[in-house]
Amino acid sequence: MAAAIIDGKAVAERRRTALAEQTAAFTRETQVVPHLAAVLVGDDPASGVYVKSKHAACEKAGMKSTVHRLPGATTQAELMTLVQQLNADSLVHGILVQLPLPAQVDTQAILDAVDPLKDVDAFHPENVGLLVQGRPRFLPCTPHGIQVLLREYAVPTAGAHVVVVGRSEIVGKPIGMMLVQKGATADATVTICHSRTRELASITRQADILIAAIGKPEFITAEMVQPGATVIDVGINRVDGKLVGDVAFGPVSAIAGRITPVPGGVGPMTIAMLLENTLTAARLQTIPANR
Ligand code: GUN
Repeated sequence: MAAAIIDGKAVAERRRTALAEQTAAFTRETQVVPHLAAVLVGDDPASGVYVKSKHAACEKAGMKSTVHRLPGATTQAELMTLVQQLNADSLVHGILVQLPLPAQVDTQAILDAVDPLKDVDAFHPENVGLLVQGRPRFLPCTPHGIQVLLREYAVPTAGAHVVVVGRSEIVGKPIGMMLVQKGATADATVTICHSRTRELASITRQADILIAAIGKPEFITAEMVQPGATVIDVGINRVDGKLVGDVAFGPVSAIAGRITPVPGGVGPMTIAMLLENTLTAARLQTIPANR
């Protein structure tokens, strides 16, 4: 039987509608309009598309969004100056530095410089530390989107074996950390695999929930999936002008129990979660008791 489709687009739309109402209520109470500042360095086409989508989504949710576009030759010092200006600007609540940054820039130093209270990506070490300790300030956007999809589709996680393929700071490591925590939509047994993992297929075949986040088109094949498993595809790869995930969707959907499509799965959730973090950031900075 073909897998049930996990419709991230529909879930994200519901969350964004609810968020627009919460934002309107917050602005009524405080006269503050949550404001996301996005920083885009260079002209990577995919990054340009993501930033444009984030900008449009903010405006639709009743938030302010400004995009700072810098040339590809921007220096470390110039980018650092902009981050510090945004940190100091009390009208800016969230700062998003779109990755990847050009090679001449020390990405870690830039991300570390973002005010942790404005760090809507949850990349700052203080926020990563809080997450690992199970007391998050912000949940990272893509992992949070995955967790919401698992909750919305009532996928059991307690005691389940989650196998994550990919160990990135943006997805692989944080989703592993979130699902291993105590609590609802968590309590899982987590294995994080990567390019050096031996006998990868024998591990992925043990997964009740398989999360593919390696950035390689159609890397996960049907032979790597346990019948009935829930398959979450984080990949967004462009092949011959077409978007494909990290999962071979056709063959895997014939064997999986549930699967996220690409596009329309995890991608829309990432943006919805970013907006939620921007409202959280505005609350943290407006109502100090919330900190
Ligand atoms: N590039 C790819 N994904 C992301 C993300 O979640 N946040 C940022 N800032 N850049 C990205």
